[in-house]
Amino acid sequence: MNRNPAHAYSARPLQLLEQEPQIAEYEMHSLERGAAFDEFYFQSIRAPVGLALDLGCGSGRLTLALAERAQFVIGLDVSPTMLTLAQERGGAQSNVRWTLGSAHCLPFPASSFEMIVSSSVLRLTDLPRALSEIERVLKPMGRVAIRDVMGVRASRVPEPIGKVRWAIAQSIKMTRRFGFRVGWKLLHYRFSKGRKEYCARQLPRTRNRIEEQYGSILPGSHITWGPKHLFVTWEKPPSQMQADE
Ligand SMILES: C[S@@+](CC[C@H](N)C(=O)[O-])C[C@H]1O[C@@H](n2cnc3c(N)ncnc32)[C@H](O)[C@@H]1O
Repeated sequence: MNRNPAHAYSARPLQLLEQEPQIAEYEMHSLERGAAFDEFYFQSIRAPVGLALDLGCGSGRLTLALAERAQFVIGLDVSPTMLTLAQERGGAQSNVRWTLGSAHCLPFPASSFEMIVSSSVLRLTDLPRALSEIERVLKPMGRVAIRDVMGVRASRVPEPIGKVRWAIAQSIKMTRRFGFRVGWKLLHYRFSKGRKEYCARQLPRTRNRIEEQYGSILPGSHITWGPKHLFVTWEKPPSQMQADE
């Protein structure tokens, strides 16, 4: 598999990055920092894993890493654009399938997966609905590993100088990686009305409320809080038959 991210894109997805700079922004984040959290997911794996799901797979970085540890992985996302990027990145990976669908209504039968991972997605969903779906499609004794961020804070107007500097630095990096047009669009997007609206749409959620929702739908789930993230692991209880054995 080609791990050089700049190399991993053909002309078509590059066009997508230009058209939708929020995706370029996400790519920057995913490529730079995503791998730092892989260990959290992989520690939760109890080998051998047959079928695994990456819920809200985005452009598929974690899906592909998981595919090296599971027999088969489905990367599901609600955005066709993200799946196009994932397909480009995943290319010839034979044990991965990309699926369009929503966390709110997963297109799988009950008890399908041995492992479900989700990175930086559930804050964008109706959490109880998404968690109920995760619970439904996970096999008894299957495992869940979720990382999420606490929500993007709405930008202030005018932006503090530190943030402006940071945005410029990010755009320069993006320019180096994907060319000037992508870098410029990203800079423009970062201070746009569209981004402010995106930030405002994210629901403010308190820790207590989040813990309450995980606790009631995935009872006994283990939650750890970092400065900006939460990490959740859960193992579904065994079925009656498994418990009797
Ligand atoms: C911040 S990105 C994270 C992508 C990837 N998991 C990663 O960590 O690199 C959030 C992803 O969640 C997807 N998403 C948002 N709402 C969703 C939903 N209801 N069902 C499935 N995916 C969703 C978005 O399309 C986007 O690809």
